[in-house]
Amino acid sequence: MTTWKRICHLDDIPVLGARRVQRAQGLEVAVFRTEADEVFALLDRCPHKGGPLSQGLVFGSSVACPLHNWTIALADGQAAAPDEGCTPKFAVKVQDGAVYLDAHELATLATDATRPVAGPACHARDGAPNCSTIDS
Ligand code: FES
Repeated sequence: MTTWKRICHLDDIPVLGARRVQRAQGLEVAVFRTEADEVFALLDRCPHKGGPLSQGLVFGSSVACPLHNWTIALADGQAAAPDEGCTPKFAVKVQDGAVYLDAHELATLATDATRPVAGPACHARDGAPNCSTIDS
């Protein structure tokens, strides 16, 4: 049975934008909101060179990475052809206006992924706008 962790209210995520969720271990999770109020969650790391997807442009049900403009599908984290790669997706649900993530995935999924240590992608760290810390 899934244990859901309340993250924020739906309105805390900008339409066509994202909110970052810090974890005790591992990189942040980017929680996206589409124009149709669909919500998706991906590891905040582009499969190309680690760019912060939370700072990309959301359009339709995809996000354009802010670094080199790869298009990543929000539903499954897959890069659009001809690019190749995938970033991990997280289960998400919206109930009564609140957004929840799977607590087990938050604690265990892709916790070994790292951010590049040099270049623009390394600046997406703590203190960035729209970053929340989840309660334990
Ligand atoms: S790091 Fe995302 S497109 Fe290059």
